[in-house]
Amino acid sequence: MKVQYVCAKCGMKKDVSSLEPKCVCGGLWKLDYQPPKFEEALIDKGEWSIFRYRNFMPLEGDDWKAVTMGEGMTPIVKYDEDLMLKMDYFMPTLSFKDRGAAVLVAHCKAIGVDSVVQDSSGNAGNSVAAYCGRVGIECEIFVPEGTSPKKIDMIKAHGSAVNVVPGSRDHCADVCRAKVNDEGKYYANHVYNPFFYQGTKTYIYEIYEQLGRIPQNIFIPLGNGTLFLGAVFGLEHLLESGVIDKMPNIIAIQSERCAPFAEAKRQGLKEPAQVTPTATLAEGIAIGQPMRGAEILEKIYQYDMEIVEIPEESILPARAELAKKGIYCEHTTAGNYAAYLRYCELHGKTPDSLITMCGAGLKSDH
Ligand SMILES: Cc1ncc(COP(=O)(O)O)c(C=O)c1O
Ligand SMILES: [Zn+2]
Repeated sequence: MKVQYVCAKCGMKKDVSSLEPKCVCGGLWKLDYQPPKFEEALIDKGEWSIFRYRNFMPLEGDDWKAVTMGEGMTPIVKYDEDLMLKMDYFMPTLSFKDRGAAVLVAHCKAIGVDSVVQDSSGNAGNSVAAYCGRVGIECEIFVPEGTSPKKIDMIKAHGSAVNVVPGSRDHCADVCRAKVNDEGKYYANHVYNPFFYQGTKTYIYEIYEQLGRIPQNIFIPLGNGTLFLGAVFGLEHLLESGVIDKMPNIIAIQSERCAPFAEAKRQGLKEPAQVTPTATLAEGIAIGQPMRGAEILEKIYQYDMEIVEIPEESILPARAELAKKGIYCEHTTAGNYAAYLRYCELHGKTPDSLITMCGAGLKSDH
């Protein structure tokens, strides 16, 4: 099987060993890859990481073996009679980004990349830095000013250079991309690089394997959409394989202070709306210009998904309530619970719901 990149805009194909971050026309790469039908017999049950699902990933060779740190395999905890928490901060670098970074760095290793750059609000940078450190790939991470000092310390500890960029998260990405263009650096980025989503889709495979079914209501944070798209790909795969017979109710979570998708949906737009983000405790989803916006909106319309906005003042109480019950998550993640509560306010009791606890509390210290 020869997997190729295919441009989301013009359809041009390119070998995945390409170092180009995107197509010459400006479109982002997707993968021209169809995994085999999902069946339990293809899961490597002796492998205790996301790579137990590697038969459904376009991996070349065995580089993943040197890369993996046991990411994934996170428990699902019953919170109350209606709500389950998938504990995705139980990961090597304490966030769900390890799912994607492990696959992305395995791909870098497979094609012989030895130096990368990446921009991030923190967690994706932590994750790429850690996995690059593990396999000896040189790494520089760009973070926006205001990023939690603990995340920055962690990136440095993994041996990566850190570049703190004044201004917004979106500006930070622009500065990093300028370096990619000017110096030809490999862009090991969670939004641009489609291999990342081949890791985040395991979120769904795990839920299915753990519960033996997919819950009715799945709430997913939506900034750049790396978990969102990965989850949609995973669910579509289960659907096409005849493992489930319909999509669950997917509810996307945005911050009320930065909601380009919610606004786009209200206006019926095909691209994210132009918004002016204001500061929010939910820093992980404060993305004003999501690069895969059109692709994400297509899924939102196709599956008639609702978008719920986190009321800013509900984040700290949600975090405190979770902490009282033993769950110490970061502010963006507390926002997931706050969004669930808001959804229940709007629609009433919502049984069989699952939210992700995808970032650890010790990483945010506002
Ligand atoms: C804790 C946490 N939750 C949610 C997100 C949102 O992920 P995405 O931007 O891929 O939608 C992030 C991204 O950094 C995060 O760190
Ligand atoms: Zn193109």
